Amino acid sequence: MNAQKGIVTFRQKKRLNDTMRQQLVAANWKMNKSWEEGVALTEAIVQQLQDQPADQPVVLAVPFIHIKAVSELLEGNNTIRPGVQNIHTEDSGAYTGEISAPMAKSAGAEYAVVGHSERRKHFNETDGLVLMKLKAAHQHSLKPILCCGEPLEVREQEEHKAYVSEQLTNSLLKLSAGEMQNTIVAYEPIWAIGTGKTATPEQAQEMHAHIREQIAAQFGSQAAENTTILYGGSCKPANAESLFSQPDVDGGLIGGASLVADDFVAVVRALNVNA
Ligand code: PGA
Repeated sequence: MNAQKGIVTFRQKKRLNDTMRQQLVAANWKMNKSWEEGVALTEAIVQQLQDQPADQPVVLAVPFIHIKAVSELLEGNNTIRPGVQNIHTEDSGAYTGEISAPMAKSAGAEYAVVGHSERRKHFNETDGLVLMKLKAAHQHSLKPILCCGEPLEVREQEEHKAYVSEQLTNSLLKLSAGEMQNTIVAYEPIWAIGTGKTATPEQAQEMHAHIREQIAAQFGSQAAENTTILYGGSCKPANAESLFSQPDVDGGLIGGASLVADDFVAVVRALNVNA
């Protein structure tokens, strides 16, 4: 209970310090949901999150086929906003099967997940490519959610901080200060994604603080303080509250638990438990 009290104090302090940092929860549907299922899930989320405060946005990063319908369902909703899970580096051209930032934007997307570990693994995305995608997102006013995180063997060797630092050095830290200001970071330890194994709140906090330090070293402490850093990896109703209550964890990027409206809504509500 004392710990709970400590959290409340910290949150109040955060407000007193007038931190600009936004809390946010993003759904990552990955390659799931038929057309009808996507519409039904969006409708259920909108219905259940009617009272969600506008300063705590909720993002639905959906497959491309859903983006137009989801953005229409979210029309006039200031809190729940549409996003995509990937973009190409180029605006247009002979890239069969790909979707560009301006195309996603024209269909209503406002956010774009960039550099997810599944894209890095299955589609050979390198930090250099991820940087180009971040630039493409910014050029077309899509707000990127940059994913970073280490595989299990790196964590076991206790090299996780160095690994994530390198990912950031080669991507995020090469952005301009203005671009940095409009970028969200998601720490997703690969060993926790879709495995049911979650990072402990302490492990998440340690890495989030580390990421914030890297941002501070490049862009200054105010920029670092203002950056929203999400946790992702088996985040669900049962553990969201303890993760989100960590001082440097500003919300979550939610895969499996975002596919069921009740679960996703419960995760979103965990943001406010200690408010
Ligand atoms: P998970 O996925 O919640 O299913 O672990 C998170 C993600 O990969 O974004």
